[in-house]
Amino acid sequence: MSESELTILKIGGSVITDKSKELQVRMQAINRLAEEIKRANVESLIIVHGGGSFGHPVAQRYAIVEGFKEEAQKIGFSETHHVMTVLNGLFMDALIWRNIPAVSITPSSCIITKNGRIQHFEDAPLKMQLKMGFLPVLYGDAVLDSKLGFTILSGDQLVSVLATKLDAERVIIGVDVDGLYDCDPKVKKSAKMFKHLTLEELQELQSKLDKSAACDVTGGMFGKMAELSKVVEHGIPVTVVNASKPNYVYKALKGENVKGTLIEKI
Ligand code: IPE
Repeated sequence: MSESELTILKIGGSVITDKSKELQVRMQAINRLAEEIKRANVESLIIVHGGGSFGHPVAQRYAIVEGFKEEAQKIGFSETHHVMTVLNGLFMDALIWRNIPAVSITPSSCIITKNGRIQHFEDAPLKMQLKMGFLPVLYGDAVLDSKLGFTILSGDQLVSVLATKLDAERVIIGVDVDGLYDCDPKVKKSAKMFKHLTLEELQELQSKLDKSAACDVTGGMFGKMAELSKVVEHGIPVTVVNASKPNYVYKALKGENVKGTLIEKI
């Protein structure tokens, strides 16, 4: 199996958790997605999931992303990592019960960042898992940082680093809206969805959003763009689909035509 056939699938935290209530899992969504992943039967796949209402509230309470400033934050680091392992465990349950040979890879145990960017990644076990036909599952996590002490590593950065490092064939981003919009579709009804974007158009959109405070919170979309740019720049196509709707992730995994945003270099 060549690494060039690798697919990386990100499942956003807002898909598998209810972001309005802390520690609220959407078990139905997790089970449905596990079913879709099983049915799609992709040969070489890595899954990365987000934190949603598990990782984000506690990380925010203890300002983990800003780094280590006082002893009192340490328990917050532990707690953030712990709730992520709980959410990950629920996802793993759903996959393994369906006979998918998924294996969890804990980012905080194999990654160190520097000022929030991945600096060291012990990826030998992940590569060997892929070679052996396992399905590695990673997630956004609280990680140690060589400058900050610790910080939060987003699932999106994980996706962009894994995709470029392992030369993935494609990246699929599952979110809770239908694709990439010019503005948050949950806030602005008139938001326009893009069916197709080139790298240039994505970067242009990014710079426009930068200047517009009204679009700053775009359902988690804004933060994704910088990471997605890196993937597309590398020549890897990215498809953004609605993972909250049944069969969208399945169709994307199968390479079938599905509503969403396709981002390509040219
Ligand atoms: C966040 O990961 C992880 C923590 C807060 C610990 P992501 O940034 O990838 O999560 P979502 O997809 O936005 O919820």
